[in-house]
Amino acid sequence: MTQEIDSNNTPAFDSVWTGVNLATMTGPASGYGILRDAAIAVRDGRIAWLGPMAALDAAQRDEAGTIFDLDGAWITPGLIDCHTHVVFAGNRVGEFEQRQKGATYEEIARRGGGINATVRATRAASERELVDAALPRIRDLLASGVTTVEIKSGYGLELETELRMLRAAHALADIAGFHLAPTYLAAHSVPPEFSDNADAFIGRICGEDLPAVTASGLASAVDAYCEEIAFTPNQVERLFATARDFGLRVKLHADQLSDSGGAALAAKYDALSADHLEYSNQSGIEAMAAAGTVAVLLPGAYYTLRETTLPPVAALRSGNVPIAVATDCNPGTSPLCSILDAMNLGCVLFGLTPAEALRGVTVNAATALGLDTDRGTLQPGKRADFAVWDIAEPAELSYWSGRRPLSQRVIDGVVIQSIACG
Ligand code: NIG
Ligand code: FE
Repeated sequence: MTQEIDSNNTPAFDSVWTGVNLATMTGPASGYGILRDAAIAVRDGRIAWLGPMAALDAAQRDEAGTIFDLDGAWITPGLIDCHTHVVFAGNRVGEFEQRQKGATYEEIARRGGGINATVRATRAASERELVDAALPRIRDLLASGVTTVEIKSGYGLELETELRMLRAAHALADIAGFHLAPTYLAAHSVPPEFSDNADAFIGRICGEDLPAVTASGLASAVDAYCEEIAFTPNQVERLFATARDFGLRVKLHADQLSDSGGAALAAKYDALSADHLEYSNQSGIEAMAAAGTVAVLLPGAYYTLRETTLPPVAALRSGNVPIAVATDCNPGTSPLCSILDAMNLGCVLFGLTPAEALRGVTVNAATALGLDTDRGTLQPGKRADFAVWDIAEPAELSYWSGRRPLSQRVIDGVVIQSIACG
């Protein structure tokens, strides 16, 4: 990891952070890849060098454009939230109140509430209104150290609104300062105009909407919800086969409320990830392992729905399936706007170790988005996206709830959020 620095031939660093501890998230899956009393330098938006302080050339340090001399702060890769529905209009606090009186998520959905309630509000909102509504949620998320956010469409269920949601996601990334991974959530719920004919809705998506979304260039993956209250495995297969024809990678909301064979279905189509997985079976997990499909665990939804069936963490571990953790920030099942709190819930509710939780929002989350060659670890050549923390050890990131011990958020080598801690 340490490189020789030849200060005669090497151009100056743009910035260097000295006196820091690095959780590089490289090396064995059980650990953090720790480098103590270290420095990290960036040039042209990429990590140019990292290593022990003793190996940092003093002349090269002094020539750096900016030196951040930090007294034992920790630096991790910028956190990656690889599953969100953060763009939507309105909220569903009324459904929260109904659930507190005993109604279930499925009952509310079957009565026309649930996802379709947010579809009605989102169809009525302009792009500007969608951006304005999402900004406070995104700002909370970024303040928990996030530098890359996956944002799904899926509350339009008609082409015009799906494209508007995706444009709003791109606008948010420009305004708030983060890297976007945009996903076309084509089959999230059967919209009211197709209430008796989900097959016809899938037919329209495959024949018209998906080609148009692909042509727009606004989305880099396709997602679906395979569940009794949403789409059958056959319907999802039609969508995934079409996505493959258009060269788009897929991911799946799989086995959240029941076992519909979602994990195996995702693996069959080489999905980037299968998400939720509470009810997944052993052969589905084995298929994910063989396909390299990442397991994205969403403890915020488990918690909010007071689910009692745990995702099969032990089987995922023994099958060496990479585990990611995300907020699933959405108005129905997971109104959660902190990736740190998602890590804490992943540890407390699912039994993840703090190191697994941090891998789940860095290296494995990058893999879940197909972006692992570019980010997710601290390594020379990768994008200089990182988070600087006022903590004594990295397990603290999973330990606290409600705290955000972030002191800097760095994107492409530039400090875009600096928070005075004290
Ligand atoms: O990930 N499972 C489906 N989609 C979301 C819920 C969205 C909503 O209820 O609005 C989820 O939990
Ligand atoms: Fe979701």
